[in-house]
Amino acid sequence: MLINPDPVVVENSYVKNYDQLYKESIENPEAFWEKIANELFWYKNWDKVLDWQYPYARWFVGGQTNIVANALDRHMNTPVADKVAMIWVPQDDGGVVTYTYKQLNEQVSKFANGLKSLGVKKGDKVMIYMPRVPEQFIAMLGCLKIGAVHSVVYSGFSATALKTRITDAAAKVLVCTNAYPYGKKTVPSLENVKEALKDNKSIEYVIVVERVKTGPVSDSLPPVLGDQRQAEKIASAQSGGPSSSTPVFITWQNLISKQSVQCPTEVMQSTDPAFILYTSGTTGTPKGVVHSHGGYQVGIYATLKWVFDIKPDDIFWCTADAGWITGHSYILYSPLINGITTFIYEGTPTYPDIEIWWKLIDQYKITKFYTAPTAVRSLMKFGEEPLKKYKLDSLKILGSVGEPINPEAWLWFYKYVGHEKCPIMDTWWQTETGMHMITPVPSVPLKPGSAFKPFFGVDADVVDEKGNKVPPNTQGYLIVRKPWPSMLMDVYNNSKRYHETYFEKIPNVYFSGDSAKIDEDGYYWIVGRNDDVIKVSGHRLGSAELESAFVSHPKVAEAAVIGKPDEIKGESIKAFIILKQGVTGDDVLKEELKQLVRKEIGPIATPDAIDFVDKLPKTRSGKIMRRVLKAQELGQPVGDTSTLDD
Ligand code: WT7
Repeated sequence: MLINPDPVVVENSYVKNYDQLYKESIENPEAFWEKIANELFWYKNWDKVLDWQYPYARWFVGGQTNIVANALDRHMNTPVADKVAMIWVPQDDGGVVTYTYKQLNEQVSKFANGLKSLGVKKGDKVMIYMPRVPEQFIAMLGCLKIGAVHSVVYSGFSATALKTRITDAAAKVLVCTNAYPYGKKTVPSLENVKEALKDNKSIEYVIVVERVKTGPVSDSLPPVLGDQRQAEKIASAQSGGPSSSTPVFITWQNLISKQSVQCPTEVMQSTDPAFILYTSGTTGTPKGVVHSHGGYQVGIYATLKWVFDIKPDDIFWCTADAGWITGHSYILYSPLINGITTFIYEGTPTYPDIEIWWKLIDQYKITKFYTAPTAVRSLMKFGEEPLKKYKLDSLKILGSVGEPINPEAWLWFYKYVGHEKCPIMDTWWQTETGMHMITPVPSVPLKPGSAFKPFFGVDADVVDEKGNKVPPNTQGYLIVRKPWPSMLMDVYNNSKRYHETYFEKIPNVYFSGDSAKIDEDGYYWIVGRNDDVIKVSGHRLGSAELESAFVSHPKVAEAAVIGKPDEIKGESIKAFIILKQGVTGDDVLKEELKQLVRKEIGPIATPDAIDFVDKLPKTRSGKIMRRVLKAQELGQPVGDTSTLDD
């Protein structure tokens, strides 16, 4: 099935001839990206567009910039300064917050000055563990402004998950909320923070946003130091004096109230790290994916602009959370670099009711709407009646990200949300890629379920294990042959994993970890992960982390987890557990194990099913063959079992 673009969409589109521009871009990617980089602000121009010393790519080498210089500063003496940069709608009606670019710049400066007053310097790591509140975005920008490196941890992660990440990053400051509303519940997030900080040595200050003002939760805030002691502590930190091992808690309000609205933006090298974002892999602890100031901003700027045909009056709603890369690139940084209005809704798609998204689209006249297949499927199950009350006529382009979108969900989204006028941009990319990699642009014919073809300058392919291109319609490994500007710079603290994970499986190319097919028309069809990463509602969960949560239970000897297809969530978690000798498994234990994983990782990781088994399929060297378990579970052929033990 081929869906041709609406003529109005084509007329408004920046890119009218994909094939020609792709060809040009790929013949000389450096020239292509350099032209785009020239649309942005640099304190100093680069000496070299790309320094590619396999497997490290360094973009715009010698150039000096700062993401904040492009997201905020450069708009200040233009009409964009008075335009709305951010609209934030809290989940329970009540005060909508809007910031013009100028106002946002002032808030960011105040927070940045606040960080400085705590002794935070260029290169220091700041953890951000917050739900979708304005301060989360202000904190992110505030860090980059002074050259500090932020690491955002998804608010749905547990204390244990937070602790692992704080420790790896050796962060100095943590920004969080005391608690926050989530549907009908109030999440006492500060409890998690306190637990995560037990025995922690690196965090000196915890900055607490009081999202929930009254009630038992806010009363549980650790005593905030009085002005006097706080001043002493800060003075001692600034003079390099000994910092005590227990962190000081400061409220956001206290920190910023006396700060100036002016703060110079730190001049950064293009290749300086901007942020670290942890993501799950096949083995071990999560990997800290490091992104730069220079290359990253160029990649995200261009992709949003062309994939969503960004025009000055756009109101862009990306429904992701800033705990994931989608939120970094396309809720915050790229919309601001592009000078448009970014819209943020604090709540979920089903709270206070299942019409909230459609209501907000009409009310705020959202023009571009970017969401995840899992959300589409969960709303699709209520049918199209709820949508019929809304006009949805402000919408121009829709987007999808996070997992393959099944044609049925694609068509529903297209028909009932986009009224067959809005093309759907199914964007394939990863935490590591930073920007869209395989994606349509609005002017091309679409096939529901296909992510179209590579973005300009992206040299992607589908190959066999030796790196040879596979024939059309054949499943293979999705790889990228040449670097792109917002490619990860490294795995924080662990270059060995960078090499092993991305550059050694197939020599000379970037290994994405996904399988895909390219059809006879050159359209890419993403099949899914080829490692043991599980995608639950688009969230990436590593099998190793899940399994280690299971085996932390005293009755569990061994565990293996797989992802099973799930109609709404894409995948659900199924675990196979070997119990210790003499222990018998029952429903009570199953429930206990589910709760344990919830607590160790977070609610998104709650397993759907648990089987107690006597043995697990393993290779002769003792590695669990999850692939075999999965095939057995789904009644599919198990494939090559030559390495299977017995
Ligand atoms: C993995 C990356 C990219 C931001 C959100 C997820 C899967 C992502 C698509 C898509 C099919 C997709 C892949 C990829 N994925 N987008 N449009 N079609 N699969 O970032 O957590 O780093 O996950 O998400 O499996 O490897 P992430």
